[in-house]
Amino acid sequence: MAKIEVNKQLEDIKKVASLNEGKNLKYCILTMGCQLNENDSEKLCGMMESMNYSKTENLSEANLIVFNTCCVRENAEDKLFGKLGEVKKYKEAKGTIIAIGGCMMQEKHIVDKLKQSYPFFDIVFGTHTLQEFPTDLYNVLCNKKRIEDVLDIDGDVIEGLPISRDDKIKASVTIMNGCNNFCSYCIVPYVRGRERSREPKDIINEVKKLAEQGYKEITLLGQNVNSYLRNEKEKGIEFEQYEGVNSFATLLRAINKIDGIERIRFVSPHPKDFTDDVIEAIRDCEKVCKLVHLPLQSGSSEVLKVMNRKYTKDQYLNLIEKMKKEIPNLTLSTDIIVGFPGETEENFEDTLDVVSKVNFEQVYMFIYSRRVGTPGDKMENQVPENIKHKRFDKLKQLVESQIAERNKEYVGTVQKILIEGRSKTNNNMLTGRTDSNKVVILEGNDNLIGKMVEIKVISEHMWYLKGEIKWQNIHLWCNTIYKLKKNIKIVFCFIV
Ligand code: 5AD
Ligand code: SF4
Repeated sequence: MAKIEVNKQLEDIKKVASLNEGKNLKYCILTMGCQLNENDSEKLCGMMESMNYSKTENLSEANLIVFNTCCVRENAEDKLFGKLGEVKKYKEAKGTIIAIGGCMMQEKHIVDKLKQSYPFFDIVFGTHTLQEFPTDLYNVLCNKKRIEDVLDIDGDVIEGLPISRDDKIKASVTIMNGCNNFCSYCIVPYVRGRERSREPKDIINEVKKLAEQGYKEITLLGQNVNSYLRNEKEKGIEFEQYEGVNSFATLLRAINKIDGIERIRFVSPHPKDFTDDVIEAIRDCEKVCKLVHLPLQSGSSEVLKVMNRKYTKDQYLNLIEKMKKEIPNLTLSTDIIVGFPGETEENFEDTLDVVSKVNFEQVYMFIYSRRVGTPGDKMENQVPENIKHKRFDKLKQLVESQIAERNKEYVGTVQKILIEGRSKTNNNMLTGRTDSNKVVILEGNDNLIGKMVEIKVISEHMWYLKGEIKWQNIHLWCNTIYKLKKNIKIVFCFIV
């Protein structure tokens, strides 16, 4: 496997750390895009913290500002250029180092625009050079020269970077990178390279370490998680089997056995690669959540063909039928693009039809955005903006009405939720999620954080449910009291 260990980079981390020692320097990171990018940002944070920068959310007090960009849709570009306009004044006032990395930097026209309109940046790095960030930073600090470090390659697997995670309960673990599918609307294969999977041993050891650190929920990440190790097998690239892992299904089964981990999620699988062994693994593994995110993109077979998705409307619906038969309590979420070139009203009706039939738990809806370099961008039959927006609103209405109906069905039911912490909008309440990823808020003590508890749903709201803790969680109450006063616990449990 083309795996890179980062020994040289770790040396450069030490060099920058000693340059920065005692200076009380701060960094601020702005992340755009998907969970994979967020996981990359956690690695950037790990590197920066190892280089003696501490984190701040305040751009004005940062000595180093890092943008981790996304280019899947156009609005991310507007966001980057807007923010760059804002940070220019900090650069001018105090010489803040500005570094821009991620997917967008793999696009030549964007880097050209940066050089022309925002020439004050210090470092540009791409998706294949994230691990070079300490070296690039060291060179900027020593030579005060701007650095462009972007490679146009298929990509490697990088192991051994430090990581600083935001959350203490839930962690993301990237299992593979890149994409071989070339959906005709999507820029990802051009900016993230070809599919490459991490060694089973590296993934399993990372999850075991997370379990030891007290993490309870793991989300496995990849552009196409269910083709994990496919490229390696097809190309005869050697990998070491570890704990029986030689596919995505066997990886799920191996992670399911790790003590301490209570929930496993994964994003995103591709419907065309959803094999029976994966369905069986979801069914059999009690820790694997029964919510499956299955990107639909369009409900029209005609549009799906032009999108190069390699499945039809019926195949998608049949797959869901099969999954529902096999997996009790299955719930589904999806991604949908409206207004792909050539999409007719009738094609769009097919999308509405699939949404009505499947009754998704959650739908992530996107208006088609032209991406330079993709086949979709070259198509002549682009859908006018006003029609795209009209269709988007219609889809949104349908989705929201379905969610409202589903929410009502939750009221009165008992749900297992993993308590994640205090609610960001109401500090008096705890927040957690159901297996189906619904947010639940409830009253409770801090010692419930990180615990799996049974709650009864008492009311529903559009984007969350309200719950109350069930008496079956008595062991947790005992624990609280134990912490307050050891002796009372015995008496209390005795009475119960
Ligand atoms: N325009 C709109 N949405 C897109 N996506 C990917 N490319 C585009 C595009 N050009 C959506 C897809 C994908 C999700 C991550 O982003 O629905 O599943
Ligand atoms: Fe993009 Fe399609 Fe690859 Fe997903 S499968 S990353 S949508 S090209």
